[in-house]
Amino acid sequence: MYSRIAGTGSYLPDQVVTNFDLEKRMDTTDEWIRTRTGIERRHLAAPGQTTVDMAEHAARRAIEAAGVTPAEIDFIVFGTTTPDLVFPNCGTLLQARLGARGCPAFSVETACSGFIYALSIADKFVKAGEAKCALVVGAETLSRITDWNDRNTAVLFGDGAGALVLKPTAEAGILSTHLHSDGEYKDLLYVESGVSRGFEVDPATNKVNIGIKMAGSEVFKVAVTKLGAAVDEALAANGLEKSAVDWLIPHQANIRIIGAMAKRLDLPMEKVILTVQDHGNTSAASVPLALDTGVRDGRIKRGDLLLLEAFGGGFTWGSALVRF
Ligand code: UT7
Repeated sequence: MYSRIAGTGSYLPDQVVTNFDLEKRMDTTDEWIRTRTGIERRHLAAPGQTTVDMAEHAARRAIEAAGVTPAEIDFIVFGTTTPDLVFPNCGTLLQARLGARGCPAFSVETACSGFIYALSIADKFVKAGEAKCALVVGAETLSRITDWNDRNTAVLFGDGAGALVLKPTAEAGILSTHLHSDGEYKDLLYVESGVSRGFEVDPATNKVNIGIKMAGSEVFKVAVTKLGAAVDEALAANGLEKSAVDWLIPHQANIRIIGAMAKRLDLPMEKVILTVQDHGNTSAASVPLALDTGVRDGRIKRGDLLLLEAFGGGFTWGSALVRF
């Protein structure tokens, strides 16, 4: 028994902030942002619009594409580090919106790898016969934890949501997933406050201090190394050559990291689903946003071999090799 992707969906909020808009707010330039990251614009949630609000749009689109009804969903796993509430978790909040009452629903908080972790978990439940129609979501409102006074990070992030529905199948399907984590790297990328540790008030602004802290170039180097190994691991585990991969669907953090992965796979950039220019780094939402983009514009076809990968705070990272 395998699981297969039956349908995908995504959602970006209406408000678009371009690099030129940011030039007016901080000491940066469109040229710097584009050449260092590939980002041209990002979408920001409207005031009051939450992670689950965006996830609901993406989930309904995935459910419709899968040709199922919300009531048929029997398992929900939701990757996010920007939840609406401390509890109930975002999976359970989404479950209530969809009316899929009673099934297991929960969130995983592994930052930018949240969707890959969620997909891996759902795949195991479907393979084990314990879920027949699993909803996998990645959604974030990173704008709420972005320090808009810090040009090192503020230009990088955006809000959005992506989702897919997994169903059982006799033929693969999801061929493998590989997950990794190394907490020794915590100081390179983290959010400085939390519920248990406590929220601090920034004396300069008198606001709660919950900004993302990142040593960008250090993160960059580790991301390229770990993702490179993850890509090799996924192919080796399935006895496949690089040439078997039809599409790379990477975490959309930086076009230079994505380019390094494409090079490692000997893939031309035309075989990479690239959306970083349109929404920046949306953390757990970025892989499903890219996947849905490639599916809906017709580039990704049934039978194609897809390599999904992500890397994020923790560090956490992982891959999924998927026959679509
Ligand atoms: O999704 C989770 C994983 N995250 C990532 O994978 C992100 C990985 N890191 C990166 O993508 C890149 O390291 C960044 C895009 C964050 C930064 O690019 P970089 O080429 O590593 O630049 P840098 O941090 O080494 O900074 C180079 C210069 C510095 O100036 P000096 O010290 O050379 O004078 C920065 O102060 O660029 C300056 N700088 C900026 N200049 C204009 C930093 N941010 C900006 C900015 N606008 N927004």
